[in-house]
Amino acid sequence: MCGIVGATSERRVSDILLEGLKRLEYRGYDSAGLAIIDKNQKLQITRRIGKVQELANAIEASPLDGTTGIAHTRWATHGGVTEANAHPHLSDNEIAVVHNGIIENHETLREQLQALGYVFNSQTDTEVIAHLIHHERKTHGDLLTAVKATARQLEGAYGAVVMDTRNPERLVVARSGSPLVIGVGIGENFVASDQLALLPITRKFIYLEEGDVADINRTNISIFDQNDQPVERQVVESESSYDAGGKGQYRHYMLKEIYEQPIAVRNTLEGRIANDTVLDDAFGKGASELLKTIKHVKIIACGTSYHAGMVASYWLESLANVSCSVEIASEFRYRKSYVRPSSLLVTISQSGETADTLAALRLSKELGYNGSLTICNVATSSMVRESDLAFMTRAGTEIGVASTKAFTTQLTGLLMLTVALGKYQGMSKQQQSAIVSALQTLPTKLEESVSLADELEKLAHEFANKEHSIFLGRGNQYPIAMEGALKLKEISYIHAEAYASGELKHGPLALIDDDMPVIVVAPNNELLEKLKSNVEEVRARGSLMYVFADKNAQFKNDDTLNVLNVCHCDEIIAPIVYTVPLQLLSYYVALVKGTDVDQPRNLAKSVTVE
Ligand code: G6P
Repeated sequence: MCGIVGATSERRVSDILLEGLKRLEYRGYDSAGLAIIDKNQKLQITRRIGKVQELANAIEASPLDGTTGIAHTRWATHGGVTEANAHPHLSDNEIAVVHNGIIENHETLREQLQALGYVFNSQTDTEVIAHLIHHERKTHGDLLTAVKATARQLEGAYGAVVMDTRNPERLVVARSGSPLVIGVGIGENFVASDQLALLPITRKFIYLEEGDVADINRTNISIFDQNDQPVERQVVESESSYDAGGKGQYRHYMLKEIYEQPIAVRNTLEGRIANDTVLDDAFGKGASELLKTIKHVKIIACGTSYHAGMVASYWLESLANVSCSVEIASEFRYRKSYVRPSSLLVTISQSGETADTLAALRLSKELGYNGSLTICNVATSSMVRESDLAFMTRAGTEIGVASTKAFTTQLTGLLMLTVALGKYQGMSKQQQSAIVSALQTLPTKLEESVSLADELEKLAHEFANKEHSIFLGRGNQYPIAMEGALKLKEISYIHAEAYASGELKHGPLALIDDDMPVIVVAPNNELLEKLKSNVEEVRARGSLMYVFADKNAQFKNDDTLNVLNVCHCDEIIAPIVYTVPLQLLSYYVALVKGTDVDQPRNLAKSVTVE
């Protein structure tokens, strides 16, 4: 999704802005642009379709020399991918704006502004903001007042940064529904949609709240809340490592992040287990008060995080005696739902900023839940700030658009939640201890899973020329099959569908022929025999099968059956352990196909618009 970087400094800012944009590339985008105010107080702007490198090349050929500037990576929503639609957008060559989010009343505003004589050069909703600020500045004379007046007229979501040639050392920013962070420097200040963009230049951050407007120059930052009252927001020292932006020895971030899973899970468990049980405080200080009231859980999430929620529903109902339903956030937020008494609303989100999940969390506050918990990877995110409780997944920054370590750490957190809730619903000490022991073996089991990489690399060549595939799983491995199919779709662009194995004969069997590979996730649990029958049903129809099975499951390799032996593990943690070979399969298929693994086409890492 779109990225924003802004800077006001004594030094030339174009390199800082370009570096920031590069660090935000992982979010997904299709064009990029940068504007500065030069020493003659004139706006200079360069925009390019495609990669940030294209923009960097253009700026190298024709440098933009200025000490205040804004830059943007755009992920098209309103208007096609063209240079004219790329940000920054200008009004009268005096006002420049970059914006994340969607302005819902842009058509009405556009008509009003056209009636006032403004000419539009793009199809974007953002250009409306630029002209409106220009118009308001004529009335109010001052940029800050003009931005505040504009913000009051905007419906929808925005994180916007504004420059004005009449105030060449000033950035005015506004946040509503789309995150913005101010980076505090010495004699210089910055702004970005994600702190990652600014880590090379500062570690001190101010996270703006909903409705905030901030007036920033080199030495001063003034913030006004949604009621236009001056407010002090805390300056937070970031602990994120600077290197989070680097690929290290790996060819892609995705591969690096797959390999980081054992350590990410180890970090997620650390300090949260004692006396053979999970500490309630892992979910936030004083979490016990809320957790002990809970008999039902509603999980809301999108994409990969939704699959984590689906696995959790099997755990919560079978192990914790807590009923659980899981719903896609974009569905939940627009329907009338029934809330059972004693319910906990759980959101799962790597970023903590996904627009639909955040909207669902906000909506839930009016619906009578006992409280809310988010399972999240970004401590400073909106979801963490707005939930009653938060479990931090400690996966470290995830850059690859296709989520890997965030997913396995979410699952780890959800299994811990199963214990935390279960102990108030009669889960025995023995059962708690059994789950905790299984959790403690996870880092080692994940290391064994990752070591299957070479085998999967070989296997990947057989998939690369396929156009379709089917993934099968039963029980809590059904969502893992769904996640495997999603990974393959996302990065290799091969059409992949997942089915609960028992559903095969109710339709999908019609698709099976020798050109349709079928991937089966088959741990050694009580459903194994049933799964074996499903495998035979498919084999009888001539399909080529790939079975990811426990060493002890006794599947035999032959012409039509490829068996990949996954390490033996406790069946409670099997969904987490089996995820890894599926991630690796997708990765290597994408590699053979030569796709853009870390930034697959049309996708964004963090979807902050509806
Ligand atoms: C995007 C990403 C997915 C992610 C989903 C939900 O679609 O590409 O990888 O699973 O958003 O994101 P969240 O940050 O809420 O987990």
